Amino acid sequence: MSSPAQKRILELTSEIESHNRAYYADGAPVISDREFDRLLAELIELEKNHPEFASPNSPTRRVGGEPLKEFTQVEHRVPLMSLDNTYSPEELRDFVTRAEKLLEGKPIAWILEPKIDGVAVTLRYEQGQLVYGATRGDGRRGDDVTANLKTIGSLPLKLDGGSLKDARRKKGDASSTLFGDVGKFKSALPHLSILEVRGEVFMTRANFDKINHERAKVDEPLLINPRNATAGTLKQLDSREVAKRPLSIILYAVAEIRGVELKSHHESLALLASLGFPTHSKTWTCQSVVEIEKALQDLNTYRHKLPYDTDGGVLKADSLLQQRELGSTSKAPRWAIAYKFETEKVETELIDIQVQVGRTGALTPVANLKPVFVSGSTVSRATLHNESEIARKDIRVGDTVIIEKAGEVIPAVVSVVMGKRPAHTKPFVMPKKCPECGGDVSRDMVAGEEGTLLRCENLSCPAQIKRRIEHYATRGAMDIEGLGESLVKQLVDQKIVKNISDVYDLKLERVSELERMAEKSAKNLLDGIEASKTRDLWRLVFGLGIRHVGAASARSLASHFGSMDKLKAATVEELMTVEDVGDVVAGSLRDFFDKKDNLETIEKLRKAGLSMETRNVERGMRNILDGKSFVLTGTLPTLSRDQAGELIRQAGGVVKSSVSKKTDYVVAGEEAGSKLDDANKHGVTILDEAALRKLLDG
Ligand code: IVH
Repeated sequence: MSSPAQKRILELTSEIESHNRAYYADGAPVISDREFDRLLAELIELEKNHPEFASPNSPTRRVGGEPLKEFTQVEHRVPLMSLDNTYSPEELRDFVTRAEKLLEGKPIAWILEPKIDGVAVTLRYEQGQLVYGATRGDGRRGDDVTANLKTIGSLPLKLDGGSLKDARRKKGDASSTLFGDVGKFKSALPHLSILEVRGEVFMTRANFDKINHERAKVDEPLLINPRNATAGTLKQLDSREVAKRPLSIILYAVAEIRGVELKSHHESLALLASLGFPTHSKTWTCQSVVEIEKALQDLNTYRHKLPYDTDGGVLKADSLLQQRELGSTSKAPRWAIAYKFETEKVETELIDIQVQVGRTGALTPVANLKPVFVSGSTVSRATLHNESEIARKDIRVGDTVIIEKAGEVIPAVVSVVMGKRPAHTKPFVMPKKCPECGGDVSRDMVAGEEGTLLRCENLSCPAQIKRRIEHYATRGAMDIEGLGESLVKQLVDQKIVKNISDVYDLKLERVSELERMAEKSAKNLLDGIEASKTRDLWRLVFGLGIRHVGAASARSLASHFGSMDKLKAATVEELMTVEDVGDVVAGSLRDFFDKKDNLETIEKLRKAGLSMETRNVERGMRNILDGKSFVLTGTLPTLSRDQAGELIRQAGGVVKSSVSKKTDYVVAGEEAGSKLDDANKHGVTILDEAALRKLLDG
């Protein structure tokens, strides 16, 4: 007999997992984040009191667990093979012809799928439970990254009947029209003793951009591309860190199955979809080379609509019998091939490598290029990432380099055209002194070893001061209109401002004398500075530019402590009890508040009249919009999208990025896009700014 606690644990587990699927896999959340958190909190509490009933595949494990010392290795029962790659249509034709010949002219049905640019993994389920997930490694043995994979919200940890319901609901997708009635596999589940599936883990471009945006704010080196970010994240030994970086997954193959018989690849995909696994939203069935080429063209247009990077297509023989007949070489199957699309690459000249100094002194090399047109725009600067990337590619000033713009990623220098290297070029070396102030530079320590990141140590380096003030004034922080890059440059170069707090001593006469500063704009600037005095505490905490403290941690800190005084007095242990604050952030905060200069700045800010306490609205006194979900679209007449989002969140609402029938309101401004159509389609209430304000006023 099961106890009430065990019964409730099972109930909550299944309910939470179905909400996870609705949110991550279907993009159509059924309940608010708050309600979801409440269910999760109840489950955590029950599992704590009744550990004997806690399953290793509980949704509570999705937030990550204790860090590992190292990954254990998994021996792959079926090797994870790689695929032969080609960029050439002729080679693709040859591949198809060879396969047809091997099968003595029997017709072959092919399936073309998008090739996701991510990291391959295998996932093993026994009796419907996920037992492990692993990386490819060398194809025979890989790393057991189960804890990391569990953080992927759309990945089922347990295969249950609930998934079957969801999959049927998804009928009508491009995928399920191809796969026919997914309900066919309904009765399969109880027989499915073993299922090993393969797929690709990746990061959407939006999530990648978000992470880099946050890293830029805390002056951390940017991640190179979504693929690298995914690989780096999966390699993390601390799954709690992984949980903070949103990964996604799509499954595209069954490696081993017992209890259900599959005859074709398209049946495998249908089974996967019906079990609740995320699968490709579109695939193409082709009977001939001509059809394959047409499908590839179609894919090349379609893939740009996908929210993640794809670099080609994978062509697979559909019949599993034919796959077996074709077999494999020692390296790759003869029944599948990867066709890669060329990314647009252009040659240009590297005029100079400029070393920029960030807010916390980090030195980053940037390429100054002879302007060229690539993938729709003219490019004159590109990232070089860091010193070791420059050395690895041996990039030198004067070189002819190849640059590429993949998707929406910032253009990058991919390689050097060695044949065009002029005589007497020198390998690039990072400066020994700060290029802005001549101060000493040091190398960051990473895990006790010298890392690749160089930093200027001089806290009064004018470049650092400029970046600090620019950061303080940005929209995401204290939002001081008019205090942008060119004005900050003048103020710091003319030594009018040496510190954030000096901004509040600015006088109208002095400001009006600056270049491009008519009296009216000077007045607007001072009004903007004045208005910043009443900003929420979290904006100030974030604006101070404390290393590793992003907007999310600043919000949690401000609402936890309620005042600057409590925050600055907190011990590392106290700081670490706050959401979004780990040992690195806590240590960095303590370092910051232990410095006399910083405390003086804060006192000056207080004297200037800045608010140093959290306002009640933030502490949830006004929850008019409790749990209501909003989507913002278009340009509002006075509020920026950030500001509108902020007001909604302060009143207890949630802001989502896409419209579903569960959305409560769509706030639409001018030039609203497809989200407005979606709102109409789902019958969601549409508000303009005035109506939103009315709602907020209660
Ligand atoms: S099938 C034996 N399908 O591309 C067949 N692979 O270049 C194994 N990939 O190792 C792979 N999208 O990491 C397959 N739809 C897809 C894929 C895909 C991306 C990756 C995968 C594979 C590599 C081969």
